[in-house]
Amino acid sequence: MSKTILITGATDGIGLETAKLLRSEGHSLLLHGRNDGKLAAARDSIAAIGGPGRIRTYRADLSSIGAVQRFAREIKENEPALDVLINNAGVLAMEDPVTSDGLDARFAVNTIAPYILARELTELLGASGRIVNVSSAAQAPVSLEALKGGQRLSDNDAYAQSKLAITMVSRHLADELGNAGPAVIAVNPGSLLGSKMVKQAYGMQGKDLSIGADILGRAATSPEFNDASGRYFDNDSGQFRNPHSDASDPVKNAALVQTIEEILQDKT
Ligand SMILES: NC(=O)c1ccc[n+]([C@@H]2O[C@H](COP(=O)([O-])OP(=O)(O)OC[C@H]3O[C@@H](n4cnc5c(N)ncnc54)[C@H](OP(=O)(O)O)[C@@H]3O)[C@@H](O)[C@H]2O)c1
Repeated sequence: MSKTILITGATDGIGLETAKLLRSEGHSLLLHGRNDGKLAAARDSIAAIGGPGRIRTYRADLSSIGAVQRFAREIKENEPALDVLINNAGVLAMEDPVTSDGLDARFAVNTIAPYILARELTELLGASGRIVNVSSAAQAPVSLEALKGGQRLSDNDAYAQSKLAITMVSRHLADELGNAGPAVIAVNPGSLLGSKMVKQAYGMQGKDLSIGADILGRAATSPEFNDASGRYFDNDSGQFRNPHSDASDPVKNAALVQTIEEILQDKT
């Protein structure tokens, strides 16, 4: 059945590849990007695939809390239905990682923006919906001080902490929503896939992006993920695995979510 699927970071890499795959399967797509030119190019290349589904575009800089909140409002105002949210947009290496809100952009884009979108769009998604949060094999214990912007981290540390953080958020939301809300699934799409993120950070070509697109597409629509809420799919091993042990600790997960809520109170 054709679904309406919002993909963040659909202008490049795994997100763009996933959008193409889902388009070829006949789904309607809401493509998100931060750059008008890249967004138009992505829309055109995806539309050229053909198919019955609608394509709409949304622009928002996910490093800005205010912009993410406006983006969520636009979706709620414009879209009568949403079946799947794929929180794919992400950043790793950056020259200046401090955002306009004074946060590390890795936490802002990889953790806080997905959290805001998940919360704001939960009602629209409804109990039959899915939220796919793109995680990573890189996961490190989260410094709540760094999350609040009070501690500077290396690129790799900030990235790994932000990815464990979104995995912890996923588990927390899944536990909280239960059967009353959308399924919340964390997915490592596969390591060292050949996107610009990997080329820039590691100077290598990387593996085929279709490895990541295939698993995000399955997590978004396949019945094999019907009972996956709260779980972590590791595409390096091709199976559900336990993420970093911190994500199995409800007290740590709740403390992390509470800290994000405090940041949102403070910055808005
Ligand atoms: N590649 C891998 O091996 C790998 C492994 C594990 C996890 N992941 C995760 O997979 C996801 C996709 O990454 P990728 O490898 O495909 O990297 P990518 O090619 O760099 O794509 C990242 C996407 O996020 C968007 N984005 C970045 N910062 C943004 C911001 N401030 N506001 C709005 N959009 C923003 C980018 O927009 P622009 O097009 O404008 O730059 C792009 O569309 C990320 O969450 C990443 O952490 C990747």
